[in-house]
Amino acid sequence: MIGKLNHVAIAVPDLTAAAARYTAMGAGVSTVEDLPEHGVQVIFVELANSRLELLAPLTKNSPVTAFLDRHPEGGMHHICLEVEDIYAAIDQAKAAGTRVLGDGQPRTGAHGKPVVFLHPKDMHGVLIELEQA
Ligand code: CO
Repeated sequence: MIGKLNHVAIAVPDLTAAAARYTAMGAGVSTVEDLPEHGVQVIFVELANSRLELLAPLTKNSPVTAFLDRHPEGGMHHICLEVEDIYAAIDQAKAAGTRVLGDGQPRTGAHGKPVVFLHPKDMHGVLIELEQA
């Protein structure tokens, strides 16, 4: 079952500049976190009811690199929804005909919790991340 909105991720070409912009608008931002398993660096912007994940490539072959090639000034990359049980959520998604990206197995996400991504073509053009709460 799908639970709360965990975060909205925005790909940015310059993580420091993006964090500075949100800080200037009075938002609290986290320190930079490297996620080598996902090929990205992230900073979280804390919101009253959720957070934004600012996302930049960590390596040249990062999945975010191709996205930034298409959207050089950045853009909305994915939405993360919480689920109670990641394996049950994967089974539900597959039963509904939704493709799970990669090998279909959960990986460790930005909060040290298991995550999977659902194919944007099956999710109305939006990349959806499911994170076990
Ligand atoms: Co995310």
